[in-house]
Amino acid sequence: MAETTHPSGVGAHGAPDGEGTTRRDFLYLATGAVGAVGVAAAAWPFIDSMNPAADTLALASIDVDLAPVAVGQAITVTWRGKPVFIRHRTEKEITEAKEVNLGDLRDPQPDSARVTKPEWLVVIGICTHLGCVPLGQKPTDPKGDYDGYFCPCHGSHYDTSGRIRKGPAPANLPVPQYAFTGDTAIRLG
Ligand code: FES
Repeated sequence: MAETTHPSGVGAHGAPDGEGTTRRDFLYLATGAVGAVGVAAAAWPFIDSMNPAADTLALASIDVDLAPVAVGQAITVTWRGKPVFIRHRTEKEITEAKEVNLGDLRDPQPDSARVTKPEWLVVIGICTHLGCVPLGQKPTDPKGDYDGYFCPCHGSHYDTSGRIRKGPAPANLPVPQYAFTGDTAIRLG
């Protein structure tokens, strides 16, 4: 069964409603979980090889409402214990992603193979070098030399399609399994 995640503004902390948690509380908890992912990232391959716990199975799929995310904005949701970066790309970002010569890429993949709709980039936000969470989601974050994401751990730069362009990371940010369930709604998993 899928849970629904509704993005809201940065720093929104809802109050418990007595019956459980509000949507904003869920977001707050999910955002908090992203912080924990950094600590757990190094152990991920090991954890991945174990049988999933019941609560992991419960979050095998989540629905994400993208309607509140304006062009140029980004949200991070936690899915199966990992941060998923969702960016509503601008025309400029889409053009940059499409115009790249594949021969210049370390891990050659056309943008069209990495997105379902050009305006929405959905990638797992874990650097393929050593598993840090790259910067580039917040408006104030450095986005690296290619307008995408920057991993300050050892200086990996990703482009607006999440492809590795510079630095030690060997591969592009992975695209998770997802599908659009509406014009502005996706289901991860
Ligand atoms: S973990 Fe990202 S550059 Fe090393």
